[in-house]
Amino acid sequence: MKITLLAAAAAIFIFSMPANGDGRRSFNVMDFGAIGDGQTVNSQAFLKAWKALCEVEEDEDGNIPTLEIPNSTFLLNPIKFQGPCKSNSIHIQVSGKILASKTIKTKWWILFTNINGLILDGSGTINGRGSHWWKTDGQSGHKKPRALQFHRCDNLQLSGLTHLNSPKGHMGLNYCNGVSISNLTIIAPEDSPNTDGIDISYSTQVNISNSNIGTGDDCIAINGGCSYININNVTCGPGHGISVGSLGEKGGTDLVENVSVRNCTFIRTQNGVRIKTSPGGSGYARNISFEQIILQETKNPIIIDQNYCNGHKCKEKKILSVQTSEAVKVSDIKYIGVEGTSDSEEGIKLDCAKLGCINIMMEQINITSFEPGKEISAYCNNANGTSTFTTPHVPCLLG
Ligand SMILES: *[C@@H]1O[C@H](CO)[C@@H](O)[C@H](O)[C@H]1NC(C)=O
Ligand SMILES: *[C@@H]1O[C@H](CO)[C@@H](O)[C@H](O)[C@H]1NC(C)=O
Ligand SMILES: *[C@@H]1O[C@H](CO)[C@@H](O)[C@H](O)[C@H]1NC(C)=O
Ligand SMILES: *[C@@H]1O[C@H](CO)[C@@H](O)[C@H](O)[C@H]1NC(C)=O
Ligand SMILES: *[C@@H]1O[C@H](CO)[C@@H](O)[C@H](O)[C@H]1NC(C)=O
Ligand SMILES: *[C@@H]1O[C@H](CO)[C@@H](O)[C@H](O)[C@H]1NC(C)=O
Ligand SMILES: *[C@@H]1O[C@H](CO)[C@@H](O)[C@H](O)[C@H]1NC(C)=O
Ligand SMILES: *[C@@H]1O[C@H](CO)[C@@H](O)[C@H](O)[C@H]1NC(C)=O
Ligand SMILES: *[C@@H]1O[C@H](CO)[C@@H](O)[C@H](O)[C@H]1NC(C)=O
Repeated sequence: MKITLLAAAAAIFIFSMPANGDGRRSFNVMDFGAIGDGQTVNSQAFLKAWKALCEVEEDEDGNIPTLEIPNSTFLLNPIKFQGPCKSNSIHIQVSGKILASKTIKTKWWILFTNINGLILDGSGTINGRGSHWWKTDGQSGHKKPRALQFHRCDNLQLSGLTHLNSPKGHMGLNYCNGVSISNLTIIAPEDSPNTDGIDISYSTQVNISNSNIGTGDDCIAINGGCSYININNVTCGPGHGISVGSLGEKGGTDLVENVSVRNCTFIRTQNGVRIKTSPGGSGYARNISFEQIILQETKNPIIIDQNYCNGHKCKEKKILSVQTSEAVKVSDIKYIGVEGTSDSEEGIKLDCAKLGCINIMMEQINITSFEPGKEISAYCNNANGTSTFTTPHVPCLLG
């Protein structure tokens, strides 16, 4: 009898606990008025939930504030999740679908800023519904928004979610140190313009692994101010490959170093592993390695392009580069174990500025034509270094 009473009391206690009833400091967007019908705009409800979440600390057992976005469809206007928060870590678990409204006038749809230890995960989907933006040409005054932006989010963890059809890039990391990204799926059509998968700038210690990215632009772009970026087991395609750059645009200074790209597969991409810098810029891209790369019908499998220009500014920049011979310095670049098929005749292209690409190292490269029997060649301009077991033969490298 006593035991039964105790159990009943315990049960009442457990079931009468507030929102954090499971001991995880848990909040659910539904409790803040969200309506998951795919039609109602939920920005206010999400912001209220965020405010509550951001103002609690983790408990003595280390349970961190958690926001549940359940398995329904939530329409969202542009929204800013602003930190710092009281807890050292904040968890947002997405089980449902988040849909972008069609009238976004900001640079980003969903902005996370100044949040330490943000964990964004779940099996849900973030859908930018970008198709109506892709048709606009940029001249018509429509600035396309990036779907997600993480600004000054240290110790960030992203995993599990599916990111679909962003109007522009799917996610940007800017001034984020200590980032782990895994198990993501990013999908947009091959012909959707500027839909980069992940754009990184001014960030360090960023790991990206076990993800599938197929878009209309770079799968991953590593921009100025980045170091210790590790990319492992990413499949890219369709898309423009994994790129360092472009660096030194508009005569700017960009620094990138200590980058490792390993065990990545490129399927029918426009580029495989690319370093692109613009004429007239300065800074460096150095100590970058690409290892265990598989290519399937890739247009430019290995490419360093120091004459990279975006659109109409190209001519002007080329003149500038001839006059100043300024360029981002490219050095200590390793390619180890790159195998597969090229969809263009030039399997390797090292097109460097006058001051040269220095210490390019190639080992165990085997790039053959996608079309059986066709020869593949390498192009070099102002590059030096070494090569062993490299097909096609790269004339500027000693080997
Ligand atoms: C979400 O709900 C849909 C249908 O309502 C179901 O098919 C799907 O499996 C659910 N997903 C999760 C993660 O529970
Ligand atoms: C990134 O990976 C390296 C090597 O696996 C590991 O030492 C480091 O802690 C990871 N960093 C983050 C932020 O996950
Ligand atoms: C990634 O997915 C695998 C397999 O589904 C799972 O075992 C692992 O825990 C996931 N990792 C993260 C960080 O979610
Ligand atoms: C590599 O990533 C894929 C998902 O793209 C995953 O299924 C696989 O388990 C990962 N491999 C390892 C060793 O984690
Ligand atoms: C390397 O990539 C292949 C092909 O995507 C994948 O199956 C394998 O699990 C990856 N291995 C590691 C250690 O990540
Ligand atoms: C890159 O690595 C080298 C060697 O470990 C180190 O000296 C340098 O400080 C690193 N660069 C950055 C920006 O952390
Ligand atoms: C090159 O970068 C790697 C990280 O990718 C780092 O471990 C290594 O120390 C760096 N080497 C030099 C010489 O900077
Ligand atoms: C290079 O790849 C081709 C096509 O897969 C293969 O036939 C050839 O044996 C490979 N060469 C080397 C040296 O591995
Ligand atoms: C490449 O050229 C630079 C500058 O001329 C030189 O310092 C370096 O030793 C050369 N590297 C190789 C591998 O020849």
